[in-house]
Amino acid sequence: IKRVTTHQLQEMKNRGEKISMLTAYDYSMARILDQAGIDVLLVGDSASNVMAGNETTLPITLDQMIYHAQGVVRAISRSFVVVDLPFGSYQGNSRLALESAIRIMKESGAHSVKLEGGAEIKESVLRVLSAGVPVMGHLGLTPQSIYKFGTYTVRAKEEEEANKLIEDAKILEECGCFAIVVEKIPSALAKRVAESVSIPIIGIGAGSDVDGQVLVVHDMLGITQEFQPRFLRQYANLSKIMLEATENYIRDVKAQDFPNKKESY
Ligand code: KIV
Ligand code: NA
Repeated sequence: IKRVTTHQLQEMKNRGEKISMLTAYDYSMARILDQAGIDVLLVGDSASNVMAGNETTLPITLDQMIYHAQGVVRAISRSFVVVDLPFGSYQGNSRLALESAIRIMKESGAHSVKLEGGAEIKESVLRVLSAGVPVMGHLGLTPQSIYKFGTYTVRAKEEEEANKLIEDAKILEECGCFAIVVEKIPSALAKRVAESVSIPIIGIGAGSDVDGQVLVVHDMLGITQEFQPRFLRQYANLSKIMLEATENYIRDVKAQDFPNKKESY
């Protein structure tokens, strides 16, 4: 099987083939997504929310991100693996950013890292890239800055923030980033971004006029129950299936129906 590369992702944009991307945090899930043919797997710091139950992405550590990435990398045979640099592992210190990125690459075997922000993290982006580590950008709603924004509502509705976002996208492209995630921005702005730079723009809550889509896999599969934003399409209701299976198991154990003779040694 041919592995996905940054070069192929660029070619997909050039010929108008949309890029498919999902998050993954563990071996078993990543194996299924890779088998299905997903182009990019993101070991997102959303693991802080969906795997650890934290309210924000801020508490997750670099060691924890590496642990998640290791499982994902062991599972894949085709997908391109991106790992989020967590909060506190790159902002305002390009040397720290490089050390964090190198730890992820060495200890997990992942293929690239993602950093949140534009102009303000330019030095960190450049330094990581200088080591030969591909960097994905992330603009718009950047959850590591949630206490600056105050809410998880749509970003860049005003002209000033929209223009800064376009400028940031151009800066990240100039630095040499291979792609950028744009999160929760108006679709008209996302379209402008995708037209303003030549690298792939991958959207979440950013409409259809971008070069690819990403969702948190637990949301997409309906394992998460509480989180139902407008941009989410649920492709399965796994929480229902898992709940019923678990209830059936409990019932069978209580009724001494499980295990039966065939299931015993
Ligand atoms: O951590 C994450 O899941 C992300 C995606 C939403 C892009 O960064
Ligand atoms: Na993230």
